[in-house]
Amino acid sequence: MTLPIPAPDCTALVTGASAGIGVELARALARRGHGVTLVARREDRLRTLAEELTSSTGVRAEVIVADVSDDAARSAIATTLRERGLQVQVLVNNAGVSTMGPVHLSEPQSEIAMIRLDVEAVAHLCSLFVPAMVARGTGAVLNVASVAAFQPLPGQAGYGGCKAFVLSYSQAMAEELRHHGVSVTAVCPGPVETEFAVASGMGEAEAAAAAEALPSFMWVSATEVALQALAALDKGRDVLIPGRPNHLAVVAARAVPRRVLLRLVARRHPALNRT
Ligand SMILES: NC(=O)c1ccc[n+]([C@@H]2O[C@H](COP(=O)([O-])OP(=O)(O)OC[C@H]3O[C@@H](n4cnc5c(N)ncnc54)[C@H](OP(=O)(O)O)[C@@H]3O)[C@@H](O)[C@H]2O)c1
Repeated sequence: MTLPIPAPDCTALVTGASAGIGVELARALARRGHGVTLVARREDRLRTLAEELTSSTGVRAEVIVADVSDDAARSAIATTLRERGLQVQVLVNNAGVSTMGPVHLSEPQSEIAMIRLDVEAVAHLCSLFVPAMVARGTGAVLNVASVAAFQPLPGQAGYGGCKAFVLSYSQAMAEELRHHGVSVTAVCPGPVETEFAVASGMGEAEAAAAAEALPSFMWVSATEVALQALAALDKGRDVLIPGRPNHLAVVAARAVPRRVLLRLVARRHPALNRT
């Protein structure tokens, strides 16, 4: 199974296309000739990127300003695309956020907002757009999970759970769609330098300190994550962990008893070691 051949009445919908990995995924898709629909809340950034993509690659770049954590806003994306005469040929569920800190200090509304964005939006957008891909016999879904999907993550308990959902859901869907011409990949990055840590509530200094605590060989650029993710989608791989050290870390973690692993993770997590 490969990425579908770009068609004029089709688009690649990328959520979270105003920053970080989403920008690079949109750029990589446009370079392959896919028209793109850029979705996020910050309109100015989306419009700047749309202009860049159209002028550099000639593709049709659409902008839809939406809070993807909102049920009605997600349904409105489908309506807008229908009105514009576009079918979603590639769906990229990339928008995501994390809360930080132990559950007993969490804010209920922030936890719910995260789950709506990281879990509910992924399932809702797949339900909205995958049926037409199956009907056409071609399509691709890229869901952005994380290495946090592979084990519980004390300090980001909700986020780890959300990404575990994304991984499990994507793998199940990949199997369901194997004979329908639709490829599904869960990309599971380790650390990537983006706005993510700050957007997730860390101060600039705290984010920098947390970043420094991780060995440099674990870091993969957003550009590289995007390129590897599209290559995996093109090959029909259901799971991709960008960067060999991250892949090895996930494999090694499986060999460590869960209780020991969780204690080690908790000890090193910056959000659990603030005081
Ligand atoms: N960076 C990492 O180390 C890392 C590692 C593993 C996995 N990931 C995953 O990679 C994905 C992208 O993260 P990133 O690192 O590129 O983070 P980022 O730089 O903070 O970008 C996040 C994107 O999501 C959008 N977004 C956030 N809340 C939204 C909402 N309610 N509605 C619509 N869009 C929303 C943001 O746009 P607006 O603010 O303009 O809405 C932005 O475009 C996430 O799913 C994240 O969990 C990141």
